[in-house]
Amino acid sequence: MRLKLLAAAALLTLAACGKSPSPPATEGVTDAMLANPPEGEWLTVAGDHTETRFSGLDKINDKNVGELGLAWSADMDTARGQEATPLMHDGVLYVTTAWSMVKAYDARTGALKWSYDPKVPRAKLVDVCCDAVNRGVALYGDKVYVGTLDGRLVALEQKTGKVVFDKPTIPKDSHMAITGAPRIAKGMVLIGQAGAEYFSRGYVAAYDAQTGDEIWKFYTVPGDPSKPQEGKHLEAAAKTWSGDFWKRGGGGNVWDSITYDPVTNLVIFGTANAEPWNPAHRNTDGAGDSLYTASVVAVNADTGEYAWHFQETPEDRWDFDSTQQLIVRDVTIGGQQRRVVMHAPKNGFFYTLDAKTGKFISGNPFVEGINWASGLDPVTGAPKINPEAKYEVTGKPFVGFPGAVGAHSWTPMSFSPKTGLVYIPVNYTPQFYMGDPDWKPGTTGFQLGIDVSGGDIPADKAIRAATKAAMKGALVAFDPLTGKARWSVPHSTPTNGGTLSTAGNLVFQGTALGEFRAYTADTGKQLWSFGTQSGVLAAPMTYMIDGEQYIAVLVGWGGVWDVSAGKLVSTMTPNISRLMVFKLGAKGVLPAAPPSAKRVLDPPPLTGKGEQIALGGKLYANSCSVCHGASAVAGSLNPDLRHSAVLGNAEAWKKIVHDGALSANGMVAWKDQFNPDQVEAIRHYVIKRANEDKALGEH
Ligand code: HEC
Repeated sequence: MRLKLLAAAALLTLAACGKSPSPPATEGVTDAMLANPPEGEWLTVAGDHTETRFSGLDKINDKNVGELGLAWSADMDTARGQEATPLMHDGVLYVTTAWSMVKAYDARTGALKWSYDPKVPRAKLVDVCCDAVNRGVALYGDKVYVGTLDGRLVALEQKTGKVVFDKPTIPKDSHMAITGAPRIAKGMVLIGQAGAEYFSRGYVAAYDAQTGDEIWKFYTVPGDPSKPQEGKHLEAAAKTWSGDFWKRGGGGNVWDSITYDPVTNLVIFGTANAEPWNPAHRNTDGAGDSLYTASVVAVNADTGEYAWHFQETPEDRWDFDSTQQLIVRDVTIGGQQRRVVMHAPKNGFFYTLDAKTGKFISGNPFVEGINWASGLDPVTGAPKINPEAKYEVTGKPFVGFPGAVGAHSWTPMSFSPKTGLVYIPVNYTPQFYMGDPDWKPGTTGFQLGIDVSGGDIPADKAIRAATKAAMKGALVAFDPLTGKARWSVPHSTPTNGGTLSTAGNLVFQGTALGEFRAYTADTGKQLWSFGTQSGVLAAPMTYMIDGEQYIAVLVGWGGVWDVSAGKLVSTMTPNISRLMVFKLGAKGVLPAAPPSAKRVLDPPPLTGKGEQIALGGKLYANSCSVCHGASAVAGSLNPDLRHSAVLGNAEAWKKIVHDGALSANGMVAWKDQFNPDQVEAIRHYVIKRANEDKALGEH
C-alpha cells in the first residue's frame, strides 16, 4: 500500500514537471560515488560535488615532495591552449584537449587506450573569445560526457570511446559554444554554454544521461517581453532590462561553473556578463541591473525551477562574468554551522553566500587596487560603484581594474579544509574601456558596443615596458573567515594555472612561464618545481593506484591571454601540449624543446593615409585583436599579422579577410561585417604597426 502511494506520488510529480530522467546508474560511476568518491579516484572535474579540488591523499607531502619526478607524459595532437583537468576512474585517466577531443590513458603507464575527435569545424573559432579550449569530461555509469565547441553533448562508452549519443544543445547556426565540463546530478548531465560576446541568450540545461534528451532548461535572461516568459523569475528579471534588449540576446551564459549540491538539492551556477558590454546599447531605454547576468543562481535540481540568485555585478559593463568555480562547504561562522557557497569572480571580491537561500554573508577584495567599486555594502553585498567607471555615462575612457580577463577567471581555485584557505590564481590586468556611441550591431566576431582602440599601446619603449610590468599574477591563499590573504606568491605574468590542494600540506600550481610547482599549503613556501617547456593554464589533479599517489597536469599554453594580449603586453611561452604525470622517485625527462625561431620584421613601406589608418586601427582593436593580439602583436598561437606574407598584397589580404580563403583553418570571412575598404584599412594599420616596430628594432 505504502509502495503504491509512493508510486502514485512519483507519477504526480512526473505529470507536474514534465520529464524525468532514466533510472540512476547502478554500475560504474554511481551517484553515491560522485557524492563521496572512493579513495584515490577523481570522478568529477573538480574532484567531487562540492568542487573543492582538495584531495585527502597525503603519500606525497611537504616532507617528500622534493622526490617527485616525471612518471610518464603523453603528447597531445592539438597545438592550442589546454585547460582540462583529467578525471580518474578504475585505473583510467580521461582528459579533453583543445577542439573538444577526448583521450583515455592507462593511469599507471600512460598507454593510450582510445581517443575521440568530435570533428569541430575550425571556423567555429570565431565564436569564442579565448581559444578552442575545453575544460574536461564528466563520468557517469559506463559513459564519458563531453561538451563540444560547436555545442553538442556527446556521450561515449568509457571502455571503448564509442559514441553512444551526440546531440545539439544550442540552436543551429547560433554563435554559442561549449568550453566547460559537464556535471552530473541524479541521472542528468548538466551543461551550459559560452556566447555573451556574440548576441546569445544564456541558459543551463539538464539532459538525460542515458538518452541525451532534455529534462529541463533554465534561461538566465528574459526574452521578448511582449511574449510570455519561461517562468516567473524571468518576468521579474524583465523589469531590470529596458528597450529592445532581447534583440541582442542579453548574455548571462553559463560557460563554466555548475555545482550540484546534494545537501540542498540545488544546482548552483554562475552567469556571464551582460551583452553587449556597453549598457547604453543593451538597456536602450534607460538603466537596469540586467538580471540574472553576472550573478550566482540556484535552481531545483529535479525541475530546474528558480530557487535564488545573488547578483555580484549589477548592470555589468566591464565583462565581469560570475562563471568561476563555486565551492560549497559547511563552515562555522560566528559559532554557527552554515552551508555556504564560496566564490571569487572576475570583479575582484570574494563572496560567501548562504547555500540554501543565496543570502549574502560576507564579501572582501581578494586583490589590491580594485577601482570599479570602492567596496561592498556590508549588509546586502551590493557594490559601491565608482561613477568614473560608468564610461557610457561619462563619455570618457576608464582604465579599470580588474579588466575583462578578471581578477580571477576560470582557472580553478581549491579549498583545503585542513588550512581553511582558498588558493586562488589571480590576475592583475588593468583594461581600457570606452563607450562607442556610434556602434551598430554586426554579424561576425565580438559585439561589445565599446571602442578599445584608444588603449592601443604606443610605439614607445618606456610605455611598453611599463605596460608589460603592470600585467602580473599571483597565487593568493585567502582566508574566507577573515576576508584577508594569509599568504601570496607573486607571478610576473597573469593567467597562471589552476590549483590543487592536498592533505599532504601541499598546493600545486603550474605557471604561465612554464613551471609546475608545489608550495606548502599553510605558509606558501615553494618546495618543488619542474620545467614544463610551455605555460600551464589547467589545474592539476591527483589519484592513487595500488598505494602509489600520482599528480597529473595538462600542460599547454594558450587561452585568453595568449590570443588577445600578445607578446607586446606580456611574456609568452610556446605551445607544447602534453599531459604530465608525476610520482615519488620517478626520473622521467621530457624530449628536448624545439628551438625558438626569431623572425625579422620586413613589412612593405607605409602608404596608407592618416584617416584610413585610424579607421583600420579602430576595426583591428575591436574585431581582430581578440585573436591576433593587442596592437597587432600576436601571442604564440595565431599568426602575427605584421609578419604575414600577404601584408603587401591587397588582393590576397582581401581573399583571406573579406572572402574567407582560410575559413577551414579558423580564419572566417568578414564580408558580412566589413566592406573591402574597411578590410584594406586594417591592412594599412598593420603595415603602420609593423614599420613602427621595425624602427624600434623589435621583431
Ligand atoms: C577567432 C580568431 C580570429 C579572429 C577574430 C581573426 N582571425 Fe585572422 N586568423 C585566425 C587564424 C586561426 C588564422 C590562421 C589560419 C591558418 O592557419 O590558415 C588567421 C589568419 C589570418 C591571416 C593570414 C595570416 C598569414 O599567415 O598570412 C590574416 C591576414 C588575418 N587572419 C587577418 C585578420 C583580420 C584582419 C581580422 C579582423 C578583421 C582577423 N584576422 C580576425 C584567427 C582569427
